[in-house]
Amino acid sequence: MEKEVLRLLRDKPDQYLSGQAMARKLNVSRAAVWKAVESLRSKGFRIASSANRGYKLESGPKHIEGVDIEVGLPSRIIGRSVVSFDSLPSTIDKAVELAQEGAPEGTVVVADAQTGGRGRLGRRWSSPPGVGIWTSIILRPSIPPREAPKLTLLIAVGVARTLTHSYGISARIKWPNDVIVDGKKICGVLTELLAEQDAVRYIIASFGLNVNQTRSQFAPDILSVATSMRIESGRTLDRPQVFRDILRELDELYVNFGRHGSGNIIEQWREMSCTLGKHVKVQLRERSLAGVARDIDADGSLILELGDGSRLSVAYGDVTILR
Ligand code: BTN
Repeated sequence: MEKEVLRLLRDKPDQYLSGQAMARKLNVSRAAVWKAVESLRSKGFRIASSANRGYKLESGPKHIEGVDIEVGLPSRIIGRSVVSFDSLPSTIDKAVELAQEGAPEGTVVVADAQTGGRGRLGRRWSSPPGVGIWTSIILRPSIPPREAPKLTLLIAVGVARTLTHSYGISARIKWPNDVIVDGKKICGVLTELLAEQDAVRYIIASFGLNVNQTRSQFAPDILSVATSMRIESGRTLDRPQVFRDILRELDELYVNFGRHGSGNIIEQWREMSCTLGKHVKVQLRERSLAGVARDIDADGSLILELGDGSRLSVAYGDVTILR
């Protein structure tokens, strides 16, 4: 009911809607409408009420609230359902739990803070409250497991496109999954999958985006390598709005991926890459390789040209750009 009431209020911005008219439209009692309004208020929506004119939505919550994100999105897949939490150990674990229980594709899990945020290669991901977007998306694409890295590229492209086109923050992508602004990391992407034989059962595609941190909010050891949208744009951003903008972009990319394959994603990834053409060092599990990053292949692996001119395809690793 909350969702339906919010949708009606959103449809008529800056206008009062009578409780009676809403009740009639939704085929419920006026008491049910009032209850939904109270529940929305408890989630941080400011809703004015007047005895003879009804209700008017004045503003949404400052924090990320599932119903607020969902109702503002035209999602076909990603963002059809958004589940929000104040704090979780990690959104990945919650998303796995929901996926196992059969949550529909496109379900988004988001937490204001994570107490055990995870990064790539077993690293910790700092996820304090009130400043970032820490989220995991349940996907069930019909692709073989080896193609799963393409979804990491898709997420990185979606985030980088939104920052660049909607916020004027010129973002690039460092292979495979870092969104970089001015040489510093603003967003990290991580995908985990459960596969059976040749088919993916689900993929949990996650990202952590630094939105409103100031320089002093970064730990000294990451200050030289990390940045936030606020630092880059000089203004505090509306996190729910940023999240909706990114989910809209991701939904479009994902629907396109389902219909036409990954060609378009790979093309956009190449255009936004800050890795291609550079001399790089790639740290693998036990050794490192140096060479020129020439391209990525159809599966998203990096094609490295070594000193002797031979080419090698690298599926994962940590890249340092040398020059
Ligand atoms: C990286 O190392 O670059 C990847 C960072 C991924 C962080 C996100 S935040 C939401 C989700 N939950 C986690 O515990 N990690 C990912």
